[in-house]
Amino acid sequence: MEMRTIATTPFDDQRPGTSGLRKTVSRFRQPNYLENFVQAVFDTVPTLKGGTLVVGGDGRFYNREACQTILRMAAANGIGKVLVGRDGLLSTPAASVLIRKYQTQGGLILSASHNPGGPDGDFGIKFNTANGGPAPESLTEAIYARSKSLTEYRLFDHPDIPLYEAGLFTIGTTQIEVIDPVNDYAELMEELFDFDAIRELFIGGFRMRFDAMHAITGPYAHEILERRLGAPIGTVIRGEPLPDFGGHHPDPNLAHATELVAELYSEHGPDFGAASDGDGDRNMILGHQFFVTPSDSLALILANAELVPGYRGKVRGVARSMPTSGAADKVAETLGLECFETPTGWKFFGNLLDAGRISFCGEESFGSSSDHIREKDGLWAVLFWLNILAERQQSVAEIVKQHWAEYGRSYYTRHDYEAIDLAAAQGLMTHLEAQLPDLVGKTLAGARVAYADNFSYTDPVDGSVSKNQGLRIGFEDGSRIIYRLSGTGTVGATLRLYIEKYEADPAQQNQDTQQALAPLIQLALELAELPQRTGRDMPTVIT
Ligand code: G1P
Ligand code: ZN
Repeated sequence: MEMRTIATTPFDDQRPGTSGLRKTVSRFRQPNYLENFVQAVFDTVPTLKGGTLVVGGDGRFYNREACQTILRMAAANGIGKVLVGRDGLLSTPAASVLIRKYQTQGGLILSASHNPGGPDGDFGIKFNTANGGPAPESLTEAIYARSKSLTEYRLFDHPDIPLYEAGLFTIGTTQIEVIDPVNDYAELMEELFDFDAIRELFIGGFRMRFDAMHAITGPYAHEILERRLGAPIGTVIRGEPLPDFGGHHPDPNLAHATELVAELYSEHGPDFGAASDGDGDRNMILGHQFFVTPSDSLALILANAELVPGYRGKVRGVARSMPTSGAADKVAETLGLECFETPTGWKFFGNLLDAGRISFCGEESFGSSSDHIREKDGLWAVLFWLNILAERQQSVAEIVKQHWAEYGRSYYTRHDYEAIDLAAAQGLMTHLEAQLPDLVGKTLAGARVAYADNFSYTDPVDGSVSKNQGLRIGFEDGSRIIYRLSGTGTVGATLRLYIEKYEADPAQQNQDTQQALAPLIQLALELAELPQRTGRDMPTVIT
């Protein structure tokens, strides 16, 4: 057993995207690919030397091998201690909990989130800083820069560490502690939510189904929902994490959680349904025959926060990503709270949370969370809803409709065009951006364009500027059309089209979403010459 320095050459594609470095499994398995990136992280974050690092992932294919490699490299790079989840497992929110609770210098999270897994699927790795949140752009850029000049990496020759049960090990002088992945997270949830009230709800016959999609949330949901909250066994379905997620796309939305959706929409279906993604940071909320949009969910969480013990009397502001609907803005306005519009990606919430400016934040992409950690948190959102339901004793549909009557409804949809030609996608965006200045003041689809620009964000805490964050066309009636290219896709380009329309009149709040938005969708396609330029006449996914 010895420390080895291994010569390597840089890869040119190790720039982290919206959420870490995400590539196909085959790319990651190329000799030195993972090692180079990990070395670039260790070289860029000197506090890790002698410090503590959290390591774990969503259990997808290559998770275990990657964990072992990271442990060997951590030892060779003088990391003092590594906290690694049993079996190499940690949900993204649980990793954030651990980094904060044990005040570590950071964590490496292995996941490609909602992207499919297996040998032909995707893998990913992401560095989170000492606040528990994703590395800010300045740091990911520094890691990228380092990755381009690497000539060697360091690794300790050592057999695999047994990860199947909790225990203490050493490699060289580095301590490796294998920990229960669920416990610390579950304890924090018990502090935030009224578990007694939720337990009563289940005792009263409330029926719930949670679809873990064979991803990381299974063990967390079994422990928290079934064991600690007393929900009947069987409440959690597909609870066993599988390396290929059972061959499915672990993305909790209407398109991918089809079994759950069918059950909730059946005549005698459960009162409440929820699902979470590959790494446990996303959530989908369903009532009986009712879908809650993530944008509405954020607004409802904010509006009902006083019902939840962990937030009562302590609510500060709220932030949402730019493409997320303005539903939360309406609540913030009524409550007299600050409201921020940030670029897409969780990393942009970190400064606002650290500065105590916001309590809640969320994205249209099925993510929401609060200042309890620095990641989005799927099960947290589910527990928040359970707490609201336990207090209000109304159905999900009643609660949401009452909310719309009070604050107005934001009809909202996202159309994704996946794996389109990269050059075509870039051409479309360039063409569109050039037209934007001429659109202002024009009446299109019955409404006047108030602004049209390429969204740029100045962080109110550190003044950093993030440009090119999506093209937006905003109308005087509050409607919006937004175009963005995904930063997480791994094949070609993914174009996201986000459409929103605000409706204050309760008599007009019960339309079908796609119908209510049809004129705006049509306009969006025409302005971008989307069918001609991409060769697609239909989106790949509608959420
Ligand atoms: C997508 C979502 C974004 C989310 C990210 C990570 O990024 O749109 O809201 O933060 O996944 O889960 P995108 O592919 O759009 O860059
Ligand atoms: Zn995720």
